[in-house]
Amino acid sequence: MILGIETSCDETAAAVVAEDLSIRSSVVVSSIALHQEFGGVVPELAGRAQVESIGPVLERALADAGLDAHAPSIDAVAVTCGPGLVGSLLVGVSAAKALSLAWGIPLIGINHLEGHLFAPRLERPDLARPVVTLLVSGGHTLLVVEREDGEFELLGSTIDDAAGEAYDKVARYLGLGYPGGPAIDRLASTGDPKAFAFPRPMRSEGLGFSFSGLKTAVIRAVDAAPGAPVADVAASFQAAVVDVLAAKVARAAALVGARTIALGGGVAANSALRAAVTDVAAQFDMACVLPTLAHCTDNAAMIAAAGFHRLRLGDVSALSLGADPSLALEFA
Ligand code: KG4
Ligand code: ZN
Repeated sequence: MILGIETSCDETAAAVVAEDLSIRSSVVVSSIALHQEFGGVVPELAGRAQVESIGPVLERALADAGLDAHAPSIDAVAVTCGPGLVGSLLVGVSAAKALSLAWGIPLIGINHLEGHLFAPRLERPDLARPVVTLLVSGGHTLLVVEREDGEFELLGSTIDDAAGEAYDKVARYLGLGYPGGPAIDRLASTGDPKAFAFPRPMRSEGLGFSFSGLKTAVIRAVDAAPGAPVADVAASFQAAVVDVLAAKVARAAALVGARTIALGGGVAANSALRAAVTDVAAQFDMACVLPTLAHCTDNAAMIAAAGFHRLRLGDVSALSLGADPSLALEFA
C-alpha cells in the first residue's frame, strides 16, 4: 500500500491506496474559504493552512484505512513535489520525508500533473491503450497520448491561459467569486449557450489551445451589453470552451487511433465537458473514462496511483528531495 500526500495549492490531502488501485482512504481538506474574499488563492495563507492541516489529515487517512498510525503497513510514501506553491509544497514534502525516515520506507516524489494523468485509473486500472487524455486544470491544459504504460507523449498544450484560468477570470469579471469553474458550470445550465457567438480559438486546426482571446471577447461583450443575463454569458462562454476542447480531443483520438479517451484536472468536473467528451467517445466507438468529481480536482489518491508506477520503475527519491514550484512534466 502507498500513502499519497498532496499539498501543492490550497488542498491538504492524504490517501491510502492498494496496489490494485483500490482506495482504502482519501481525505481532502481545503482552505478555499480563507481565499474567497481575495478572489484567488493567497500563497502565504495557503501555506499556513497546510501546516495546520497536514497532521490531522494524515491521522485521519491512516485511521480511515484501519491502520495503526505508529507502525502502519505502508510500503512507500508518494508526495507531490511540484509544480505548485512552494510554501504549500514544502509542507507535504517535509511530512513525507519524516514518515519515510520514521517508517523506513521509500520516498517517491511525484509531479502533480502526472498525478492528474493517473486519476482515470482510479476508476478503471486497466485502460485500453492508446489512451488520449485531456488534462484541464487551473494551471494547465494538456493533451497527451499514452501508448505504453505510464509513458505520456505531449500532443498539444495552451499557448496562453489554461482552461481553468479562463473560467476563473471570466467568473471573476462576472462577479461569481472564486473558484469560477463550478459557479459558471451551475449558472450555464440555466442560460442560452447561443445568446453570444463567442470565438472558438484554434478550433479548426492542430492540437494546441488558446483561451486568452476568448476571455477578452467575453469581457468586451459584457461591457457592450451590461444588461445581458449573466447566465447567458456563462452558457455561451462555456459552450465555446467545451466546443474547442471536445474538437481537439476528437482530432487527437483520430490521429493516434485511440482506444480510450480520458479526462483529468479540475475542469474535468465540468458537466458540459463530460457530456461532450462522452459523445466524442461514443462517436468513435472508444471507451471513455471520466474520473469521479473528487478525483478531477486535487486529491492524494491520484498521487498514490502515480507512486505505484514510479515504484515499479524503481524510481524512488532521496531524502534530499526538494519542492520545485515550476517542475516540468517529462514526456516520452
Ligand atoms: O486540478 P485543480 O483542482 O487544481 C489545479 O491543479 O489547478 O483545478 C482547479 C480548476 C479551477 O480553475 C476551477 O475553476 C476549475 O478547476 N473547475 C471547474 C469546475 N470545477 C473546478 N471548471 C469548470 N467546471 C467545473 N465544474
Ligand atoms: Zn491539480
